[in-house]
Amino acid sequence: MWFVRFDPWNPSFVAHPYDVYADLRVNDPVSFFEPTGQWLVARHADVNALLRDRRLGRSYLHTATHEAFGREPEPEFQEPFWRVIRAGMLDVEPPVHTRLRRLVSKAFTPRMVESLRPRIRKIAAELAEGLVERGGGDLISEVAEPLPVTVIAEMLGVPERDRHLLRPWSADICGMYELNPSLEVQHTAVRAAQEFGDYLRDLARTRRDEPGDDLISALAQVVDGGDRLSEDELVGTCVLLLNAGHEATVNVTGNGWWSLFRNPDELERLRADRSLLPTAVEELLRWDTPLQMFERWVLEDIEVGGVRIPRGVEVALLFGSANRDPEAFADPDRLDVGRADNPHISFGAGIHFCLGAPLARVELIESFGALLDANLTLAEEPAWKPGFVIRGLESLRVTV
Ligand code: HEM
Repeated sequence: MWFVRFDPWNPSFVAHPYDVYADLRVNDPVSFFEPTGQWLVARHADVNALLRDRRLGRSYLHTATHEAFGREPEPEFQEPFWRVIRAGMLDVEPPVHTRLRRLVSKAFTPRMVESLRPRIRKIAAELAEGLVERGGGDLISEVAEPLPVTVIAEMLGVPERDRHLLRPWSADICGMYELNPSLEVQHTAVRAAQEFGDYLRDLARTRRDEPGDDLISALAQVVDGGDRLSEDELVGTCVLLLNAGHEATVNVTGNGWWSLFRNPDELERLRADRSLLPTAVEELLRWDTPLQMFERWVLEDIEVGGVRIPRGVEVALLFGSANRDPEAFADPDRLDVGRADNPHISFGAGIHFCLGAPLARVELIESFGALLDANLTLAEEPAWKPGFVIRGLESLRVTV
């Protein structure tokens, strides 16, 4: 694919980004990408180091205004979107980040998550059974989506009757994370953030007066309008948990099965030895990662791979490329479900390291495990959704 350059809007590139990444890592590991005005960073060592470097931030608004940072203020119509997004921990930096993350981190420790395993296993088994009874179907909409949506909705306490709303809200909000989103995508994201925010605000008010045994009720008890948790922060945190809590997991399941179908020897190896499930899940997270890119603002001048990058610009960290870097992984283009040394970067690194990683791991192990029993075969070659940053399949049709 030598003729395709880095082009996140080109479906051929989205389907096969790995040759372009290999070229970037060797010839242009830190390169300026004119269409978005960002510096692309392609090597594992650089991506890993920048994620941990406090001279960069997910936001700059804790140190400067838009104007002082030399940026245009956002258009006014986007205000309801940013109000929700910037109130979640992913878009703030310490000390606010530390306070918000501490409030919810107890719910996601490996021990807490382990206690959910029987419930997660049961949901996975029921969904896999349904697929088998129907003789196959779309693995994404019938198993990959309902599993993490049900788990995170139950943890937060979103009533079953409202859960169908979560996927569309999340997908619409995520449109804004793609590079240079169209005006229509921006308006759709703003509307979704507003509706989702209003819904959670109402739910939290109800739970404050009539608490249940769920995370929204627990957070609603500590809303004090100030130091502990403001109502906007509660809403932002819950939107983040509900979105981050399923979006990537859906795509790892889809991309992961598609990876296994393309590597039938590895699929057979896994079917023959279930003890490989934990390393297989890590390898599927690495080999075709669902989150291809994350951005950081440069808060102080830095130098990366001999290139000086000034304060005020954005770097785009290419996770998909880092995960295939031969400097970090032996034989990186080979899918190896038993890979022992696997320092993949799919959950990020540094202070924003994925809070839900232990939960995602349990969900994925249980879901791949349940589906291995089903003896799936691929019914037709799947198509990729247009998104590059959040990269996943439209559907994955299988037969049993
Ligand atoms: C396989 C599935 C998942 C992947 C690949 C993934 C990946 C990531 C990555 C890369 C980040 C860091 C982003 C950055 O540094 O800019 C992140 C942050 C986060 N993830 Fe996940 N995630 C997954 C599942 C989950 C789940 C199940 C939850 C459930 C709650 C979750 C909650 C979060 C939260 C709250 C953050 C923000 C953490 C912070 O800012 O301190 N994620 N995730």
